[in-house]
Amino acid sequence: MKVLVIGSGGREHALAWKIAQSESVTKVYCAPGNPGVASLAKGENVAIAVGDVGGQRAFIEAQGIGLVVVGPEDPLADGVVDALEDLCPVFGPRKAPAQLEASKAFAKAFMARHNIPTAAYAEFDTAAAAITYVKEQGAPIVVKADGLAAGKGVTVATDVDMAIAAINDAMVGKVFGDAGGKIIVEAFLEGEEASILAFADGKTVIPMVTSQDHKAAYDGDTGPNTGGMGAYSPAPVVTPEMLQRIEDEVLKPCVEGMAKDGTPYTGILYAGLMIGPDGPQVVEFNVRFGDPETQVVLPRMTSDIVPVFLACCNGTLDQADLSYDDGTCVTVVLASGGYPGSYEKGKVITGIADADADPQVTVFHAGTKQDGDDVVTNGGRVLAVTAWGDDLKATIERAYAGLVKVSFEGAQFRTDIGKKALDRL
Ligand code: AMP
Ligand code: GLY
Repeated sequence: MKVLVIGSGGREHALAWKIAQSESVTKVYCAPGNPGVASLAKGENVAIAVGDVGGQRAFIEAQGIGLVVVGPEDPLADGVVDALEDLCPVFGPRKAPAQLEASKAFAKAFMARHNIPTAAYAEFDTAAAAITYVKEQGAPIVVKADGLAAGKGVTVATDVDMAIAAINDAMVGKVFGDAGGKIIVEAFLEGEEASILAFADGKTVIPMVTSQDHKAAYDGDTGPNTGGMGAYSPAPVVTPEMLQRIEDEVLKPCVEGMAKDGTPYTGILYAGLMIGPDGPQVVEFNVRFGDPETQVVLPRMTSDIVPVFLACCNGTLDQADLSYDDGTCVTVVLASGGYPGSYEKGKVITGIADADADPQVTVFHAGTKQDGDDVVTNGGRVLAVTAWGDDLKATIERAYAGLVKVSFEGAQFRTDIGKKALDRL
């Protein structure tokens, strides 16, 4: 079977890497992909943009693609599954259920309707009303742009002035464009964060092994929010008892609620959670694999992922084989200097093959580009050095031993990926 992955980041390289391990797969195309995908024996990039549905349709028909896997949220929110699914199975939620990520107002109302635990909130479409509310509520308080803002639309305000500034940025300064036309103001949740990614087929929902990303740019969870600077799996904050509560209180009510609402949920359901004294609370839902969570979850998966994707598409997930190893996996992102603010591109990257030489290390490309014989930087998060092994401490050391072999001008990374998990063990 030939598989088409849509997207170009570290998540998509990791998806293509895992899909290529399936014996049933002869070729993995990635549109538009990155040099990491091209380096896979079965991998090939195709120059079709993420939003080019016409190009994707023509390619699927010409190549006889048997499965499409959609990586990022934007095409899902725009309805790429609805637009392609007459041609072949397409893994991901349709446009209606994808609003769970595309609109925080939709997600909050959905959770309220179906009794899914989440922070108390209010929704605003003018800055003045939001500011009055924030002054009444006091800080800490959280301000969120309604729409998709590449993980940057959220401000955890430690004082009222900071909240007001965030409201004005979104609604008056329009720094998130239309995504900030509406905002959510919600109560600050205490606790430790964890991500649960689950496969769903409209009726059945099955969580993967747990993982945790590091959203803050700098060590000690300081600095601005990013797409994610590293991740580890498993996340010890999620005990087996907690995982059961997450299934019962969050995942199943979500998939059942979507079915009741007439918009069955298929694909990946990603719950970003705060694990606090009262149990799990939903911070956000995403409708696709996390980046960089994918880079630590898929290396632990021992079953073939392709039949699982197909089972999600045809409603037979309850019969799928899903297994994982008992080990640990850690990924550390190497980012361009300045990220998540502005940064330069085109810096030559060296040492990827050196890092890859360790059989328990893989470098997943994200913002990279082939430039003649060189691989150069082409984005904020450039690549993720991923290591696996039995013991968390040794796995963290292995990931950093790989990371220091890779370099480019201005490279930045966090030095404390996985530390929280080590402290807890
Ligand atoms: P989101 O994009 O909604 O996941 O928010 C980004 C980050 O902001 C989360 O990963 C949390 O670290 C933080 N955050 C969001 N909402 C809350 C909340 N209600 N209480 C505390 N922290 C939050
Ligand atoms: N790592 C967070 C996300 O993918 O949304």
